[in-house]
Amino acid sequence: MTANSSPFLSASSLDKTFVLHAQGGQQLAVMRGLSLSLAPGECLVLAGRSGIGKSTLLKMVNGNYRVSGGRLTLHFDDGALELSDLPAQAWHRLRRDVIGYVSQFLRVVPRVSAREVVMEPLLARGCDTHDAHQRAETLLARLNLPERLWALAPGTFSGGEQQRVNIARGFIAEHPLLLLDEPTASLDSANRDVVVELIQEAKARGTAMLGIFHDEEVRTRVADRLLPLEGHMLGGTEMPASSAMPVSSESSSATAPSHKESLQ
Ligand SMILES: Nc1ncnc2c1ncn2[C@@H]1O[C@H](COP(=O)(O)OP(=O)(O)O)[C@@H](O)[C@H]1O
Ligand SMILES: [Mg+2]
Repeated sequence: MTANSSPFLSASSLDKTFVLHAQGGQQLAVMRGLSLSLAPGECLVLAGRSGIGKSTLLKMVNGNYRVSGGRLTLHFDDGALELSDLPAQAWHRLRRDVIGYVSQFLRVVPRVSAREVVMEPLLARGCDTHDAHQRAETLLARLNLPERLWALAPGTFSGGEQQRVNIARGFIAEHPLLLLDEPTASLDSANRDVVVELIQEAKARGTAMLGIFHDEEVRTRVADRLLPLEGHMLGGTEMPASSAMPVSSESSSATAPSHKESLQ
């Protein structure tokens, strides 16, 4: 954590209920009463079994999934921004300038080269093409992606190669908040080490990170704190509010589920 320990991201009594419109509007409650805070320069790692809702939380912070209840707030020097009721048009700027997201799988666009996929977040900010080009190549080289692949579209790449393109794209623009969804899952140990270095460098420049890492060793090396989700995540099953346990001193007690309609 840096000297500035005021929270950059906070969640309070956060709920998520999916409404399955294609299945008669059935509701699936997956999260209830989650609270957290994340400071600049800190890496908070989400822990818990598969299907418990870790990716769902990252997608809510990234605006892919709507918040069903509670508050999700970004804190800036000049004020707070409430994400749970942010108008759709505000997300574009937020993702360009503030929130970076390394998704679990690369979204492949046909005929766009690996180098262009990585450069794109910088070009979206109006960065000089030559600089963006160089920074993309530096990152791809650090991540040991063979140079002969840089001008090719990643659609035919292996899982590990696609993941490294995704990581380079996520880190290139140095967003102040970075969401990492299992970025090392299909990497060998040399490339896992590069990702750990990238995370440590990001921390040193004050990036706040919320991450999911299955690899115990990576987790130990990057995590400042672990947030076990067990008491707040319903993993798709219904559960009485009384059995949802607070998981850490900063977690609130459970609240009643929200049944507001969700986007996803
Ligand atoms: N778009 C969606 N619509 C309906 N249910 C979803 C959706 N996304 C995730 N879920 C459900 O939410 C639960 C948590 O999923 P997820 O966040 O992907 O878990 P994790 O990342 O911890 O493995 C699962 O039961 C999953 O089926
Ligand atoms: Mg997941």
